[in-house]
Amino acid sequence: MNFKLYKRLTALSCAALLLSLWIFGTYLRTHGQQPTATQPRDPKAWGGNHVGKPIPDFVHGDECLFCHRNTIGAHWQENAHGVTLRQLEDAGKLRDLLKQPELASVAKDIEYFLGSRNHIRFLKKEGFGKFAILNTRVVLDDSGKVINWIEKDQPTWDKEKFGNNCAGCHATGVDTKTKTFAAFGLDCYVCHGDVNLEHSNDTKLMILSKKRHDESELITSICAQCHLREGKSNSTGLPYPNTYIAGDNLFQDFNVDFAKADDEKLNRIDRHIYRNVREVAVQGKTSPTCLSCHQVHFDSRAQSYAKHIIAPRGPICFDCHASESDMKSLKPYEKTSKVCEY
Ligand code: HEC
Ligand code: HEC
Ligand code: HEC
Ligand code: HEC
Ligand code: HEC
Ligand code: HEC
Repeated sequence: MNFKLYKRLTALSCAALLLSLWIFGTYLRTHGQQPTATQPRDPKAWGGNHVGKPIPDFVHGDECLFCHRNTIGAHWQENAHGVTLRQLEDAGKLRDLLKQPELASVAKDIEYFLGSRNHIRFLKKEGFGKFAILNTRVVLDDSGKVINWIEKDQPTWDKEKFGNNCAGCHATGVDTKTKTFAAFGLDCYVCHGDVNLEHSNDTKLMILSKKRHDESELITSICAQCHLREGKSNSTGLPYPNTYIAGDNLFQDFNVDFAKADDEKLNRIDRHIYRNVREVAVQGKTSPTCLSCHQVHFDSRAQSYAKHIIAPRGPICFDCHASESDMKSLKPYEKTSKVCEY
């Protein structure tokens, strides 16, 4: 045999062997190795919860960012979670919205904006850990241009709504008895929990650190505490969880109708979330999780796109895509939510 060709073939088969090992490894990692991995189970069965317990005195984001300013800090003010609720002075261009003549009677009281992309609400402080919310709201297109105003004619403040209906998913550390929050907006605590500062020596102490390899059901509970809209807390009846701390099992107190994953009328975003949570929490699958397709920090949109096209193929793909043979066509997406009033 031609020696050069022989060398090339050997190199090729080595490459092929390495590639198949890598594919097999990836398969094992993404599909899990336990034979129990796809057995249906009781979503409440694992772990514990903090239902009705006091909010811990957690380490706040300013302190985290003191040490993590160059990596996480560099992008936090562009992250949808970091900006979902902001003070007037941090709201940039959105402040121009207050020049609307119809808002003249209330504009001077508006202190905070809720929503960072297509739907914006206006808030003001209403005592410790509370906000009043304005009925008037605005719809923006993806470039930030106003496309609609709703209830603009009679702007009125509602003192109870934010605490009763919104706080648990748009603020941090909500005490469900008083409906007051410990910090406005979403702090690191909502996903990383009650952080032990010893983690700087041993990152295994940190939920969601690289070294920990958190269980799929644990990761899913963290994201589902807010992203499973239309669930209800059994203990309070509120539309958000009762004292959920990252690491807890959400489903011990949060009641969700998983059949919504099969509801063709639900928009594709809420639907893929319902399906993925059901796959993990009820059907016992270990993959994919939210993090197989999404990366919360660092340019989350571009990363989400890149990660999702190589995720294991399954029914979740067709919550958004038309069919296996036509991955270019997407199902229509109407951005609506009863819970968030848009
Ligand atoms: C169960 C948790 C939960 C509750 C309760 C909740 N929200 Fe939301 N909200 C979310 C999530 C999750 C998103 C992001 C959804 C997405 O992008 O698909 C969101 C997004 C928003 C947005 C931004 C949408 C955009 O396109 O910019 C606004 C505004 C909003 N919610 C307002 C409210 C208001 C007002 C209330 C109370 C009446 C409320 N939400 C209650 C979880 C919640
Ligand atoms: C919405 C949930 C969420 C919030 C809020 C959040 N994180 Fe994270 N964080 C994650 C997830 C998920 C990961 C794992 C890697 C990823 O997906 O980006 C992570 C990873 C990290 C990492 C490790 C980075 C790496 O290279 O893997 C650090 C450090 C971190 N977060 C710090 C923070 C700090 C500081 C805050 C508050 C300013 C914060 N996080 C808020 C979800 C969150
Ligand atoms: C006194 C400094 C300090 C403070 C305060 C601090 N961290 Fe860290 N953190 C570190 C160091 C050092 C490491 C290990 C090296 C690294 O990965 O940056 C680390 C690691 C991490 C990791 C794991 C990164 C990985 O490798 O996966 C996460 C997540 C994290 N920190 C989040 C937080 C959050 C959230 C807070 C606030 C609640 C916080 N940290 C507060 C210093 C700090
Ligand atoms: C405490 C509530 C809360 C938790 C916990 C939470 N989110 Fe969110 N998430 C939100 C809200 C609110 C928004 C919309 C913010 C806005 O636009 O105003 C959002 C937006 C998003 C978006 C769209 C933003 C973008 O830039 O594309 C993604 C993707 C997302 N979250 C994924 C996750 C994942 C993955 C987790 C779990 C690691 C998680 N979230 C945990 C409340 C939460
Ligand atoms: C198989 C991959 C995959 C999984 C698993 C997945 N997502 Fe998504 N998700 C996507 C893709 C792709 C998009 C972008 C869709 C679009 O733009 O229409 C998206 C969009 C979103 C959005 C809306 C972003 C926006 O711009 O409004 C949110 C919020 C979200 N996902 C949260 C989650 C959460 C929470 C989980 C876990 C329960 C999850 N996703 C699991 C692929 C996935
Ligand atoms: C939440 C919605 C959502 C889910 C779930 C989802 N996708 Fe996508 N996918 C999108 C969007 C949005 C695009 C971008 C389409 C565009 O830019 O025209 C896309 C693009 C793609 C593309 C590129 C198509 C092309 O040829 O241009 C592939 C391949 C793909 N997705 C595969 C998958 C696979 C595999 C899954 C399941 C593991 C999946 N997607 C799940 C929303 C989703």
